[in-house]
Amino acid sequence: MKGATETAKIILVSSLRKSYLIGSEKLEVLKGVDFEVRRGEFVCIMGPSGSGKSTLMHLLGCLDSPDSGSYILDGVEVSTLSDSQLARVRNQKIGFVFQAFFLIPWATVYENVELPLIYAGIPFYRRRKKVLAALEYVDMQHRIWHKPSQLSGGERQRVAIARAIVNDPTLILADEPTGNLDTKRSQMVMNLFKRLNKQGKTVVIVTHDPEITTWAERVVYVRDGVIEKEEVLKNDSFGSSF
Ligand SMILES: Nc1ncnc2c1ncn2[C@@H]1O[C@H](COP(=O)(O)OP(=O)(O)OP(=O)(O)O)[C@@H](O)[C@H]1O
Ligand SMILES: [Mg+2]
Repeated sequence: MKGATETAKIILVSSLRKSYLIGSEKLEVLKGVDFEVRRGEFVCIMGPSGSGKSTLMHLLGCLDSPDSGSYILDGVEVSTLSDSQLARVRNQKIGFVFQAFFLIPWATVYENVELPLIYAGIPFYRRRKKVLAALEYVDMQHRIWHKPSQLSGGERQRVAIARAIVNDPTLILADEPTGNLDTKRSQMVMNLFKRLNKQGKTVVIVTHDPEITTWAERVVYVRDGVIEKEEVLKNDSFGSSF
């Protein structure tokens, strides 16, 4: 049974460490990260290039595992899960949006968004309903038979978001989701994240852009593999940049 404080935090990270082995050299990237996210919160992560933001996001997204430390996701210690349990958590609880979109180039918009549902074993008719609803949510229903190469950058990002939300995850992790977009399209994408957040999703976004942080409730600064400081923002409605 989960305690009240435990379930209030969807992410509870303590003393998280991660290093990479380059030849015989050990490169320490995360050097004891302590980090919490409340359920329903909207958090931005900032920090210099190479400070470990993407490494942290990969761990939060269960795409990689830490050397040591604890990561409790939605009340469950991630290190206790088997590979297949981890795959299920990734598929059902987390929606991941990357800067480079990572859409499958030879598949259509529809097929790209459908993929997580196929992994989840959802039957055809329910899949179709969910895919169309997700594409409608990001206003991409008019482009379902296009391939990613036939879309603009903003459209590709909206498809990537549709794919991230199609399974109705509780947690949305986005690593520089607006890094390749102009101001107008960045705002469109941020509006989508804000809307998802207002509907109860927890959103964690890595960004280099101080404008983007105005959308968040809290900004966490990573420097040299640790959390340097945090800033709580008074933010009761939409980002000031909108
Ligand atoms: N798979 C890997 N193998 C080896 N080293 C890596 C790997 N991934 C990242 N690194 C190194 O770890 C450090 C942190 O990388 P990370 O991608 O987490 O930084 P970041 O804060 O996301 O930077 P940026 O803002 O440029 O995206 C970098 O010095 C990078 O070279
Ligand atoms: Mg990065």
